[in-house]
Amino acid sequence: MKTRRNVQMAAPFFSADDRIRIHLEIDAILDGALSMGPNVKAFENEFAARVGVRHAVAMSSCTSALEAALLYYGIRDREVIVPAETFVATGMAVHLSGGTARFAEISPHTLCLDLDDVKRRVNDRTAGIILVHMAGLISPDIAEFRSFCDENGLFLIEDAAHSPGAKLGGAEAGSFGHAGCFSFYPTKVITSGEGGMLTTNDDEIAAFARSYQNRGRDMGSATERYVMPGRNVRMTEMNALLGRIQLGHLNEYLTRRRRIAAAYKQGLKERNDLRLVFPDDPKSSSFWKFPIILDASIDRSKLMTHLGNHGIATDAAYQPALHQQPVFQEIFKNDAVCLGRTEDLLSRHLCLPCHPRMTDEDVDYVLDMLIQGIERHRSDLQQL
Ligand SMILES: Cc1ncc(COP(=O)(O)O)c(C=O)c1O
Repeated sequence: MKTRRNVQMAAPFFSADDRIRIHLEIDAILDGALSMGPNVKAFENEFAARVGVRHAVAMSSCTSALEAALLYYGIRDREVIVPAETFVATGMAVHLSGGTARFAEISPHTLCLDLDDVKRRVNDRTAGIILVHMAGLISPDIAEFRSFCDENGLFLIEDAAHSPGAKLGGAEAGSFGHAGCFSFYPTKVITSGEGGMLTTNDDEIAAFARSYQNRGRDMGSATERYVMPGRNVRMTEMNALLGRIQLGHLNEYLTRRRRIAAAYKQGLKERNDLRLVFPDDPKSSSFWKFPIILDASIDRSKLMTHLGNHGIATDAAYQPALHQQPVFQEIFKNDAVCLGRTEDLLSRHLCLPCHPRMTDEDVDYVLDMLIQGIERHRSDLQQL
């Protein structure tokens, strides 16, 4: 009988040394700028250097970064292609910016947008595409997505909420699209408490985002001139301090996440009752979570309960898919959206925890309990 352990889906990590530094630096913050001061500037510069882009604009969340990018392009009465497998914020940002989300199918190999399905959905109302790097994985088709967008006058926004540090062909998430949007919510790969970052090589997008986050202020003017509608979606110094400290550890965190993912892969490779969503190049994912696709014979809900009863948190992010969420069903009521492949994949997928606070023993325990749960909750129809 295995000793029960407690394994969460995510757990932010600040070491003892990080805590000492935070306490010391908070003192300086309290005597200086509390918002948009030296920590925000440094966080932006360090993040831009890491991603390899000209600009990084620190914002209050990934949602506000998405809205800034969409408002820059002006999507009123136009469509933006979005995967139905994403957090609700991706689709909501489109609607709150005046556009309509056009949901598309995901690839079974990556759980990211399927390029062929996207191409089929482009029409004369399409303004652009938001590609979500699901669970941290950069689609191997990303270069093709970008050239398709460039050839057809569409924008490409990367929703990189899950994927800081993921790298494909020498380039990092957030540097492939016209803009990239990151989240630093506490469950993410790195956290600043709340917070987001917009990355871009485009000077105009960066200038728009800086004005937008300051209620549309003319950032070049010494006097207060407001030149467009904007919001207050800035980052505080405290958030930026936490974000900088976490960014400094990003490589360590990614190494640990990738080791855990490799251990899962090794432990599950012989099973023919599930399939891994694992990239050819492990560096192309930050392994925010570890998704697997279960065979239809496995009762996922019972399996999740089994794991929960043994202290292991799992989730089925993101089910229901976006087009099945009440908010979008209300919006599309006369125009039912049907995405059979996405719905099938989401009904069978399961995300295992994968984060630096997990020990090797935790990983072995998750594997043992998963296999035990599958054996118990599989209906072996072939034996009937
Ligand atoms: C794919 C995706 N996009 C956008 C967001 C929104 O991020 P934030 O909470 O920082 O606004 C999230 C957050 O969970 C997300 O997972």
